Amino acid sequence: MRRLRAALPVLAAVAAIACNPDDVVHRVGWFSTMRVQRSIKPYARPIPPVPGTVPVTGMESVPTLQTGDRFLNPRTRTSESINRGRFVYETYCIVCHGATGRGDGPISSTAGGLYFGVRSLVNDTIAARTDGYIYGTVVNAPLMGRGLMPIYGDKVRGTDRWDVVNYVRTLQAAAKAAGGRR
Ligand code: HEC
Repeated sequence: MRRLRAALPVLAAVAAIACNPDDVVHRVGWFSTMRVQRSIKPYARPIPPVPGTVPVTGMESVPTLQTGDRFLNPRTRTSESINRGRFVYETYCIVCHGATGRGDGPISSTAGGLYFGVRSLVNDTIAARTDGYIYGTVVNAPLMGRGLMPIYGDKVRGTDRWDVVNYVRTLQAAAKAAGGRR
């Protein structure tokens, strides 16, 4: 018994060392770690680039209502693209446009939320729009004459923008198959 009691601190020390310190350290309040720091959290405050900043990948051209239709979709509608588009849609769009694209996401006034003016993405009018038009709305809705929708081009970037267009096409096909678009 006494020998066991003597071994206890040793056992405790071994157990402590066996844990990954990275998993433990932030649970202990008196360690100062990088978790506790003055930093700007995502969405807290958009920071414009420093004046004079030049993108190293070249300037991208932003679609407008006049030019949107000329932007051609470089992403084939593969399942990989659609799956990625679904992820992007469920991250950024679903809150307003809803799971099936009918404009009835949880914050949309259609579903009793506070956000007014959300449109369906699956009616005949929008189904007949070009990929470039939908792409333009994702990048900068006000430039596409859709001033009630916030800008998403700073959040959805690169091929993700086209993948979400491809996913919207999937929602339109599903709405049609379900009998009539709304
Ligand atoms: C905060 C709510 C909100 C979110 C999030 C949102 N939208 Fe919108 N969207 C709107 C509103 C409101 C309109 C109508 C704008 C207007 O008519 O001025 C709109 C319009 C559109 C239109 C044009 C529909 C038409 O009939 O011309 C498209 C396309 C669209 N959204 C796609 C998207 C996609 C894709 C995403 C995700 C990247 C997204 N939206 C995220 C609110 C939102």
